[in-house]
Amino acid sequence: MKKLAAVMAAAVMCISALAGCGSKAEDAAPTEGTAAAENESAAEAAPEEAPAEAEAGDGQDAGSGNEEEAGAAGSGNEEEAGAAGEAGVTEALADGVLNVGTNAEFPPFEYVGDDGEPDGFDIALIKAIGEKLGVEVQVDNMEFASLVSSIGSKIDVSIAGMTVTEERQKTVDFSDAYYEAVQFVVAPADTAIASAEDLKGKAIGVQLGTTGDFIAEEIEGATVSQYNKAVDAVNDLINGRLDCVIIDKNPALVFQARFEGKVTAIDGAQFDFEAENYAIALPKGDTALAGQINTALKELKEDGTFDALVAEYIEGSDE
Ligand code: ARG
Repeated sequence: MKKLAAVMAAAVMCISALAGCGSKAEDAAPTEGTAAAENESAAEAAPEEAPAEAEAGDGQDAGSGNEEEAGAAGSGNEEEAGAAGEAGVTEALADGVLNVGTNAEFPPFEYVGDDGEPDGFDIALIKAIGEKLGVEVQVDNMEFASLVSSIGSKIDVSIAGMTVTEERQKTVDFSDAYYEAVQFVVAPADTAIASAEDLKGKAIGVQLGTTGDFIAEEIEGATVSQYNKAVDAVNDLINGRLDCVIIDKNPALVFQARFEGKVTAIDGAQFDFEAENYAIALPKGDTALAGQINTALKELKEDGTFDALVAEYIEGSDE
């Protein structure tokens, strides 16, 4: 069922691309088209799906060109959603519930609130998206490393401060990016660590399966300890078992504030870490769902809801 809907939606997308609204397709990196074509489910679904996916992927990877591309992709999607009609209805929403996986160990994006339920920027954002789509949002708190592989079975989508990476794109699709981030280095307050050179040979803590983990594993001579919870890594740093922790900027700043005077958060730019983009991970090939979520995201940005959530959850979270 899901596959049929995906094929039909992909066909509609191709038609709209032919009509000229997919002008970004020319910019699509050939490698991405290849990656999509090589992918099992993409190959199974329809060969025509490849250009459409390359186009979507191009939008998220764009970095500085994001705003503009997000706008362009959004308007295309709106039209697509309308044109797709019944055929574009995604099975993920058929039961009226959007099952969302997260890992509530990543403040301010997701953490366990006072009531024991996941809370944070991402949770508020996905609930606002669910409201736009007219579905109930149910959040499942899971290990970060199992989120991607659970999409399409245990959960419909994942929101977890998740960085768009080419590796993950082999398994899942991503919505338009909604937040730009970078890895930071958390170190003892009196640390001498200040450059990429200083990280060599160090004992580095990371959250398992994160981009911080992938970066740490590339550092020459480093001993990498993987934790299920980032806060456990920070505690080991404070206990002297680690030299530093590599984690995304905003959680790094939250930990710096929480363990004031004990740890410091150092900007990843000092280590030449590259910018990353957070997006919602979606079932591969479900262009109908992607279209609906991107449209909702775009509306929330336009009506001020998105900025209000940034102000509520992110700004001031590091004080
Ligand atoms: N942005 C990083 C990544 O995608 C870390 C995300 C961790 N998120 C979490 N909810 N624990 O790998």
